[in-house]
Amino acid sequence: MATVGLIGSGMIGGTVARLAIDAGHEVVMSNSRGPDSLGDLVAQLGLRSRAATAAEAAEAGEIVLVSVPVKAYPALPAATVIGKVVMDTGNYYPKRDGMVAALDSKALTDSEYLERHLPGAQVVKVFNNIFFKHLLNLARPAGAPDRSFLPIAGDDEEAKRAVSDFLSSIGYGAVDAGPLAEGWRQQSGTPVYATPYGSFENEKGTPADADVIRSALAAATR
Ligand SMILES: NC(=O)c1ccc[n+]([C@@H]2O[C@H](COP(=O)([O-])OP(=O)(O)OC[C@H]3O[C@@H](n4cnc5c(N)ncnc54)[C@H](OP(=O)(O)O)[C@@H]3O)[C@@H](O)[C@H]2O)c1
Repeated sequence: MATVGLIGSGMIGGTVARLAIDAGHEVVMSNSRGPDSLGDLVAQLGLRSRAATAAEAAEAGEIVLVSVPVKAYPALPAATVIGKVVMDTGNYYPKRDGMVAALDSKALTDSEYLERHLPGAQVVKVFNNIFFKHLLNLARPAGAPDRSFLPIAGDDEEAKRAVSDFLSSIGYGAVDAGPLAEGWRQQSGTPVYATPYGSFENEKGTPADADVIRSALAAATR
C-alpha cells in the first residue's frame, strides 16, 4: 500500500482519493485554500486521509496526483516532486484556463506542458479522459469481466508501471498510449475522451475494455 499525495481535491482528486482509500492506500489531500478548508472532505474520507499544504502533500506522496486547472500550474510546488511519479489528470480548456500559446499551437501536449512546470518529475497522463462519476462507479476488482481500462501516456516505463499498479489496485486496467508526446490521443475531444464510458446522464457509466480503449486511441486524429 502506498501514500498518495494529492494536489487538487476537487471532483477528480476527491474521487481518486475515495478509490485509493477503499483500496487500502493512505491519502494526503491539498488544495489552493489550505488544509483548514479540507476538514469536511477528510472527515468523509476517513482515517487513512489527512489534509496538508500542496507542498506537504507532494512531499508525503510516494506517488503524487496533480488534479488542478491548467492555469494553476505556475503555483505548483515543483521542487517537492523532483524524482517522483506524478499522475496528471489535467485537460486544457482555454475558456477556463486562459489561452496558452504552446497548447493552442499544439507545440506541446497538455502533459508536456505540465512537465515543463515540474522539471525532474516523471509525469504520467491518466484519469483525464473519464468523468469523475464514471470513475467512481466503474471501478472493478482485477479479473472482473466488466473491468474498465484507462489510457496512460508517459516517457518513463518504470513510472508507467507504477501508475498501472496503482490503477489496478483501485479497480482499473491500463492501456499504454505511448510517450507524453502522444498524450494528444487522449486529450479533450478525442474518441477516447469520455465517450467510451457512456453518457454523463448515466452516472453508473458503461464499462470499456482494453480493446475499446486501444481502438479509440488509434482512431484519434490531430
Ligand atoms: N471533473 C471531471 O470529471 C474531470 C475528469 C477528468 C479530468 N478532469 C480535469 O482534472 C483537472 C481537475 O478537475 P476537477 O474537475 O477535479 O476540478 P475541481 O473540482 O475544480 O477541483 C480543482 C482542485 O484544484 C485545486 N487547486 C486549484 N489551484 C490550486 C493550486 N494552485 N494548488 C493546489 N490546489 C489547487 C482546487 O482547490 P481550491 O478549491 O481550494 O481552489 C480544487 O481542489 C482539470 O484539468 C479537469 O479538466 C476533470
